Amino acid sequence: MMERLLTMFEQADPFSTWWPTIAALAVGIVITVRTIMSGQRCPNDNQIKEQIVVVTGGNSGIGFELAQALAGRGGRIILACRNLQAAERAATIIKRELGCRTPLTSLDDDDDPADRYFVEARYLDLCSFRSVHHFAAQLMAEFERIDILVNNAGVVFANTEVPTEDGFERHSQINYLGPFLLTQLLLPHLKRSEQGRIIMVSAHAHSAAKIDFDDPLNVGTWAVKFHARDAFAHSKLCVLLATRWLARELKGTSVTVNCCTPGLVRGTRHLRNSPLMSAICVKVVTYPWMWLFMKNAYEGAQCAIRLATDPQLKQVTGEYFNDCEIAPGSEAGQDKELAKKLYMQTVKTLESVTKLTVDKEALGMETEPELRLEAPPAAETETETNHGEGAGEERKKEERQPLE
Ligand SMILES: NC(=O)c1ccc[n+]([C@@H]2O[C@H](COP(=O)([O-])OP(=O)(O)OC[C@H]3O[C@@H](n4cnc5c(N)ncnc54)[C@H](OP(=O)(O)O)[C@@H]3O)[C@@H](O)[C@H]2O)c1
Repeated sequence: MMERLLTMFEQADPFSTWWPTIAALAVGIVITVRTIMSGQRCPNDNQIKEQIVVVTGGNSGIGFELAQALAGRGGRIILACRNLQAAERAATIIKRELGCRTPLTSLDDDDDPADRYFVEARYLDLCSFRSVHHFAAQLMAEFERIDILVNNAGVVFANTEVPTEDGFERHSQINYLGPFLLTQLLLPHLKRSEQGRIIMVSAHAHSAAKIDFDDPLNVGTWAVKFHARDAFAHSKLCVLLATRWLARELKGTSVTVNCCTPGLVRGTRHLRNSPLMSAICVKVVTYPWMWLFMKNAYEGAQCAIRLATDPQLKQVTGEYFNDCEIAPGSEAGQDKELAKKLYMQTVKTLESVTKLTVDKEALGMETEPELRLEAPPAAETETETNHGEGAGEERKKEERQPLE
């Protein structure tokens, strides 16, 4: 049998049939598509020695890859995660993997290479403003400055029926309001950095968002219930708009803020709640296509890695990045008036539920903005935030007061 096969191969004439050509073409096409779809790599390997980096949602997916890459470049990484056990596990894995890659010649005999890397886990649940306050307060007490904040954590297909403990739609709070509050609270510490960088993670889906100019936070729409897909798109558009306006507020300071999309990324837990992806037969059918057309988590992290490390981007702020390059984003995502309105409405909304007060005049000036870090007492939180159906309407009325 084996002999017959070998003879067949020896006698085979590749030019007598089209099959070898077709097979070679197919392989070529697959490799080309995979290379194009994997996107651009971060074009530099700059070190960020001793820089203090906060990565939200760093325990899995894109956040994990980003944390590992930045730790490998010398950053001191804080994984801000809602699952502390998973975050501690991730920190151990990152240190161990980086330790394994460290050349032995650079170590003393009794050195554990993993100890060279600083990766620590802290608890942060973006679904709760109380948790955001506590996390920020803890961090600011522990570190004298923060150099890089990556607002990476996010959800899609979350339950839009049940509001968060603060009374907001879940995509809105986890993807937008929570990161917005965290950023505002950490700003004084970011300003202490020689060059503070804020990186917001949005999504291509922001272009599909429906937004009401008179109520950009869409608090009124929550009362009539959002589809999870629309809620996700809206939250990611808010991320982009707020990035644009915050950049204006931060003009004249040492802090830049930019936004990026990782592209379509497979192998993360992002689609874990997707009704479609929970069916095993759909997974089996879609996997080869996902492998071909989507990035893996490492590839998805490249844009944020560039934003965190590239010295050429020192002065670049308020931009949207796709595939490591500046991109225009959607039309709504470029609307300055909308960005301003959303930003002001967000500050007002957060003021009313978290006692966050941002002195907008002081932002970007010499004096620090007034920020109160104490979370409101539980009773106060409950009375100030309504969980019922009418809550959105009441807030909407309040929000529609003229903005300065
Ligand atoms: N994957 C894609 O195709 C894609 C496309 C566009 C944009 N994005 C964006 O890229 C970012 C990373 O996504 P990914 O693909 O890496 O998904 P992922 O694996 O699900 O990672 C999301 C991270 O966010 C964390 N998170 C969720 N809710 C949180 C909360 N309430 N408080 C704190 N952390 C929370 C998750 O923690 P747990 O592990 O505890 O759940 C997880 O660590 C997200 O902002 C996502 O919207 C992804």
